[in-house]
Amino acid sequence: MTARIIGTGAYVPERIVTNKDLMAFLDTDDAWIRERTGICERRISTEEGTSVLAIRAAERAIADAGIDPKEIEIVIVATSSADRSFPSAASDVQGAIGAENAVAFDITAACSGFIYGLHILQGFIQSGIYRTGLVIGAETLSKVLDWSDRSSCILFGDGAGAAVIRADEEGVIRTLVGTDGKKADVLWCQARSLRNCLTGGKPELGFMVMDGKEVFKFAVKKVPEIVNQILEETGTAREDVQHYVLHQANTRILESAARRIGIPMEKIPVNIDRYGNTSAASIPILLDEMSRDGRLKRGDKVILSGFGAGLTWGAALLTW
Ligand code: UT7
Repeated sequence: MTARIIGTGAYVPERIVTNKDLMAFLDTDDAWIRERTGICERRISTEEGTSVLAIRAAERAIADAGIDPKEIEIVIVATSSADRSFPSAASDVQGAIGAENAVAFDITAACSGFIYGLHILQGFIQSGIYRTGLVIGAETLSKVLDWSDRSSCILFGDGAGAAVIRADEEGVIRTLVGTDGKKADVLWCQARSLRNCLTGGKPELGFMVMDGKEVFKFAVKKVPEIVNQILEETGTAREDVQHYVLHQANTRILESAARRIGIPMEKIPVNIDRYGNTSAASIPILLDEMSRDGRLKRGDKVILSGFGAGLTWGAALLTW
C-alpha cells in the first residue's frame, strides 16, 4: 500500500497586495519585482491566522475527497508561522473539522514542509499504522516579515493548501527528503528571546532574516539534483512525467530548474505571479488549482519538489 492524494483544497486571504501597493511605502519597483522574481501580487491576511487558513483549505479538501472527517486518523500541518507555539495548528484544524479520531501535530520544515508531511504520512501508510490522513501547508508569513526590508518582504504571501491522503495500490512511488543544519543561518526567524523574564530577558518576537543570494544558489543546485535523483532511482524517464510541481519561490529558479533537469517550461506550472512565495502552502495550492482546472488527470506521473529554511529539501514522485 502507498499514499494517494484523493482530494485537494486551498484557501487564500481575500486581500490582494500588488507590487505597486508595496511601492507606496518601500523603495522598490514593480518592474524589478516582476523581472527578478516573477511576482505581480500576493494575498495578505488582515485578521485571519494560520489556523483559519488551514481549516478552510482542509474543509475544501475533505469535500473534494468526499469523505467523513471522522475517517481521518492523522492531521499534519506543515507551517513556520503557527499562530501559537502550542497547541499546534493541527490541533485547531482537528477540532474545527470534527476529525475526532485523528492524532494531530505540526511540523516545521519551512517551504519543504508539505513534502516532509507527505513523506511522514507515506511511512505511516506503508507500515499499516494509518489509512487516511490530511496534510496541510499553511502560512501567514506576512506576520513575521520585516516590511521595511525590500530584499525579503516582496517575496512572500499568505495561504494554505491541503490534501486528503488514503492508502491505495497506486500513489506515491518515492519520496526523498534532506536537511543541512549547518546552513540554518541562511534563512531564519527568532521565535522567542533566548533569555527568560526571571533572569533579565524580555519577550521578543523576531522578523525573518534571509540571505537571498545563498538561498538562490542552493535552490538552483539542489532542486535539479533531487529531481534527477528521484528519476534515476525509480527508473523513470523525464519525458514520462507530465508535471513538475516545484515550490514557487522565484520564476528564475523554476527556469533554471527546467534547463538543468532538461524539460520544457510547459511542464512546470507557475502561479507565483498571483500568490508570491507561500512557503509550505505553495505546492498544495498549485496541486489544487491543477486538479480543479483539469490539468491533473488520474494516472499522470507528477514530481513535487521543494526547498527552504533549515536548509531543507524534498521531492516526491507520484501517480495522480
Ligand atoms: O522559499 C525560499 C525562500 N527564499 C528564496 O527563495 C530566496 C531566493 N532568492 C531570490 O529569490 C533572490 O536572491 C532575491 C529575489 C531575494 C533577490 O534577487 P537578486 O537578483 O539576488 O538581487 P540582489 O540581492 O543581487 O540585488 C540586486 C540589486 C541590489 O542593488 P545594487 O546593490 O545592485 O544597487 C539590491 O539592493 O537589486 C536591489 N534590490 C531591489 N531593488 C528593488 C533588492 N531588492 C529589491 C527590491 N526592489 N525589492
